[in-house]
Amino acid sequence: MSALATPVRQSDAFDELAIDDARQLRNAFGSFATGVAIVTALSAGERIGATVSSFNSVSLAPPLVSFSIARNAKAFQAWESAPTFGVSILSTAQADLSTRFARSLGDKWTGVSLLPASRIDAPLVDGALMWFECEAYGRHDGGDHLILIGRVLAARRNCSANPAPLVFFGGAYRHLAPPRGSEFLTQDAMWLHGW
Ligand SMILES: Cc1cc2nc3c(=O)[nH]c(=O)nc-3n(C[C@H](O)[C@H](O)[C@H](O)COP(=O)(O)O)c2cc1C
Repeated sequence: MSALATPVRQSDAFDELAIDDARQLRNAFGSFATGVAIVTALSAGERIGATVSSFNSVSLAPPLVSFSIARNAKAFQAWESAPTFGVSILSTAQADLSTRFARSLGDKWTGVSLLPASRIDAPLVDGALMWFECEAYGRHDGGDHLILIGRVLAARRNCSANPAPLVFFGGAYRHLAPPRGSEFLTQDAMWLHGW
């Protein structure tokens, strides 16, 4: 039986969203829960930084990650040419920092505790769960965003941070709830067959 002939169950009630309506499309994309990261770089000696939920792992060999940056970001030109960048994966305690680095205007950096990177020339955000230091590997058109791919040169886990990640879902910050009894996964299952 071809895939096309497979009977399809009548779906439950649903809303058809207007994908040409930016608000509705944004809401639809927001149903994909993500973590939150602050990406940082140095451009002509100036620090640039932005909050992103588009951070993603891409490849294990070579080790690659990606994020996308809006073409209307104030620092867009700097992101187009940054040779290296840092990624700080935020913890639940860092929602305020996330909001601060999501504001185009105003000073993002005053009073922010930073760490030096080991392999690149960019500041990292103290207190994060995990840090990646990357060199630019590729830049690709992503419509009104630019997709940046970085090759990971170093990854450091924060041993002292509360390991709870900041989560972004439905346009709001969330915390992960601990698994309930019946949902508890064994150590084996936790990595979902290698993932
Ligand atoms: C939770 C969250 C996630 C975001 N994710 C992205 C993203 O993936 N890409 C992006 O370009 N902007 C994203 N933004 C918006 C940027 O952080 C914001 O536009 C930032 O100020 C850009 O910096 P700049 O304009 O100073 O260069 C996000 C904002 C929030 C609050």
